[in-house]
Amino acid sequence: MATPLNILLIGGSGFVSGTLARLAVSRGHTVSAVTRGQRALPAGVTPVIADRKDSAAFAAAIQQAGSHWDLVVDCIGYGPEDAQQDVEIFRERTSHLVFISTDFVYAPDKRRFPQAEDDADYLDHSYGGKKREAELVLAGADTGTMRWTVLRPCHIYGPGSLLGCLPEHGRDPQLIERLRQGETLRLVGGGHYLQQPILAADLAQTILSCAGNAAAHGQICNVSGPTIVESWQYYQIIADILGVPLAVEELSVADYLRANPDRASFFCHRIYDLSRLADCGLHVPATPLADGLRGHVESLL
Ligand SMILES: NC(=O)c1ccc[n+]([C@@H]2O[C@H](COP(=O)([O-])OP(=O)(O)OC[C@H]3O[C@@H](n4cnc5c(N)ncnc54)[C@H](OP(=O)(O)O)[C@@H]3O)[C@@H](O)[C@H]2O)c1
Repeated sequence: MATPLNILLIGGSGFVSGTLARLAVSRGHTVSAVTRGQRALPAGVTPVIADRKDSAAFAAAIQQAGSHWDLVVDCIGYGPEDAQQDVEIFRERTSHLVFISTDFVYAPDKRRFPQAEDDADYLDHSYGGKKREAELVLAGADTGTMRWTVLRPCHIYGPGSLLGCLPEHGRDPQLIERLRQGETLRLVGGGHYLQQPILAADLAQTILSCAGNAAAHGQICNVSGPTIVESWQYYQIIADILGVPLAVEELSVADYLRANPDRASFFCHRIYDLSRLADCGLHVPATPLADGLRGHVESLL
């Protein structure tokens, strides 16, 4: 087993953060997690209760936890103020900070295929834009001896979340039921947009691989799964696992966007150049989509 690490997660009972916490504990690491205490933490995780939006309470809770961490992972940073808080609070308290960003930083109408981290146009004034602002805070900060890495996952799937990667069946709690009943799925653009979903457990491995990795310092990396599919094929795989046929009705992208302008980031091909991830020596996700989805479906049955 690798050397046990002292790890702190911001978040820890959610989908991504809970998956990460479970993996870290299973590998023998000492894991603490900051949450507001509204959901149970995975077994073996030490709670640190604070609302990160209450800066004073957050600082006091970290001070009281009173440790130096080999790795701090901000699973729930959504804007520049969160990244600023990470730098201020953890600069002297951790060897390596990992910040979870998103592929929605890339402007959907200006993508390259595959999309690399540089040579990108970025969104502003949105979920993705705020994540990009957070990345820029880290990139511009004096982080002292604290290393940092930003990861940009695309659609994340796996046990602990709902199935579905595209409107109108994104994270659809009824998806299995609908497929079993022979309902026609309504996919925007017919589900022809390419995706490269990442299994949460694979992402968790990539996050842990940042610890102690000097080559990952100051890097912003795409992170996606090994399988590229049209979005409808994601649903086809699920239908095949259930042993039912798939029927899809195509919804107009233009009509959907008129009604939901804030969801534009879904409507582009989301495929990524992962060479930087590999060059940094970070874990490159390897679970084929069909295998990952089988486990995801089984977790919901
Ligand atoms: N899902 C995707 O496809 C996707 C794609 C790209 C990137 N991402 C990124 O992945 C991350 C999602 O993480 P997740 O799945 O763990 O999120 P989540 O399921 O929403 O869970 C949030 C976690 O943070 C805690 N929390 C929430 N607000 C808090 C606060 N103010 N102070 C302290 N703790 C707080 C929650 O516990 P309490 O409620 O008890 O506080 C919980 O443990 C995000 O950064 C997201 O942008 C997701």
